[in-house]
Amino acid sequence: MLDKMEVYYFSPTGGTKKVSSIFADAMEKEVIWHDLGSKEPMMEKPEGEMTVVASPVFRGRIPSVVREKIEKFSGTGKKAVTIAVYGNRAYEDALLEMNDILTKCGLW
Ligand SMILES: Cc1cc2nc3c(=O)[nH]c(=O)nc-3n(C[C@H](O)[C@H](O)[C@H](O)COP(=O)(O)O)c2cc1C
Repeated sequence: MLDKMEVYYFSPTGGTKKVSSIFADAMEKEVIWHDLGSKEPMMEKPEGEMTVVASPVFRGRIPSVVREKIEKFSGTGKKAVTIAVYGNRAYEDALLEMNDILTKCGLW
């Protein structure tokens, strides 16, 4: 059972945050939210049992602000879930890109 999850999201127009909220509600766990669009310093060592990264898809990729921030994560074998929210054209390599970055950071 998971007690606490952390959700890192970027959502300029609110859609990704909404999708993340639906996912978080379904998990029925305490959620700590981190806005990847914020200029505040970011927790780079996720502490919850599960880390969720949710990003919109821009031109088939994740936005650079998301990539630059999640590349700094240190995960030490914790579970991760990635969510790519797109405009019904195509999500192309966005999920793969997030998964590759998080795997390199030690999340799986
Ligand atoms: C610059 C830009 C590029 C986009 N590229 C894609 C794309 O390649 N494929 C797609 O399906 N939707 C694309 N979209 C639509 C967004 O992925 C979609 O609107 C997303 O849900 C917005 O998330 P938000 O509401 O959290 O900001 C793009 C939107 C913008 C602004």
